[in-house]
Amino acid sequence: MFDVNEIRKDFPMIMNRPDLIYFDNGATTYKPQAVIDAVTGFYTGYTSNVERGDYETAARADKAYADTRKIIARFISCDPKEVVFTANITASLNQIAYGLMKNFLKPGDVILTTEAEHASNLLPWYRMEKEYGIRVEYIPVDRQGVCHTEAVRRAMHENVKVIAMAHVTNVLGSVQPIKEIAAIAHENGALMVMDGAQSVPHRKIDVKDLDVDLMGFSSHKMCGPDGVGVLYGKYDILQKMDPVFLGGGMNARFYPDGTIVLKNAPEKFEAGTPNIEGVIGLGAAAEYLMSIGMDNIMAYEKELRSYFKEKIEKLDNIEFYNPDNETGPVTFNAKGVFAQDAAGYLGSKHICVRSGNHCAKILHEVIGTDQTIRASLYFYNTKEEVDRFIEAASEISLENAIGIFF
Ligand code: ALA
Repeated sequence: MFDVNEIRKDFPMIMNRPDLIYFDNGATTYKPQAVIDAVTGFYTGYTSNVERGDYETAARADKAYADTRKIIARFISCDPKEVVFTANITASLNQIAYGLMKNFLKPGDVILTTEAEHASNLLPWYRMEKEYGIRVEYIPVDRQGVCHTEAVRRAMHENVKVIAMAHVTNVLGSVQPIKEIAAIAHENGALMVMDGAQSVPHRKIDVKDLDVDLMGFSSHKMCGPDGVGVLYGKYDILQKMDPVFLGGGMNARFYPDGTIVLKNAPEKFEAGTPNIEGVIGLGAAAEYLMSIGMDNIMAYEKELRSYFKEKIEKLDNIEFYNPDNETGPVTFNAKGVFAQDAAGYLGSKHICVRSGNHCAKILHEVIGTDQTIRASLYFYNTKEEVDRFIEAASEISLENAIGIFF
């Protein structure tokens, strides 16, 4: 296990703002110096475009960009040519939905998903439903958002062609049995799409072991820069999928009659100048996380969350929604207090949490409320921070929480 106090020194935000308790890691994470150095190293040492220049700095940029594909392949256990760089997981999921619609599905086919999903894993499918006649159906989840395999088996039928689900849900932190669900999908001739936004940063992901067909995640939730995401796909599936964006860098040839010859995956999905510095920073982030060890990160977060749960369960003024989920955020409300007012109160105590529906706007069907407060932890958080949080949370009341704005 690592020494969290040593880890904290890697993060300038923690060192520069010791007053803050940052529990909004589900939204985005702090960046270690190694990532900042990788990004500024590109800006100050070898700025150039990629795959377009015949000079020394361009060759360095090409190498750093290509090396990141290899790093990410190692990080999620796949082949580098199965790693596509996108703008974020939202872009990855939109590309997946578009590619499936164009090349794999026909009207009447069914996408199975859950009501615990983030908007990014629902809205692209809804568009397919409206514009293309695909149907979206929901697999029931339990009160803490967990989708059990029996429910998946019951929901399967011959028209189901895709199951699309978060590995770890963003509000309740429900861990879905993705490997088992992928096996059910495959037994029935369906594809498995995984939203890895809230799992890839926190645990070792082996896409081959999970046997998911397509998967996405964002860099900024795993200590990397904003504006970069990854789309993983089994190579033969990527090869069959049409790209959403057309332009430079992704075509092998085009002709005056409009014929376009695409490059192979992954390049055919990366039209235009990519976020080069972001990709290089993502590579540094993945290396940084692997140097700590994903299993160590998961074990540390599990212990911290269990400490958090033990403390928050003792607070009479708090309703706690996901006590049984061992990982992921702690989701709660202060009884009788509007979530945003309570979060504002915590903010006034320098505690950063997120409130509202967290982009999971149909989850209220599951937990009975669409306004919650989410404290989402990462491996650089500490028990001392949890203690400070608990003290502040115990004080939230209708009288003191209203009207605090920043
Ligand atoms: N999807 C991010 C969240 O859950 C922004 O907060």
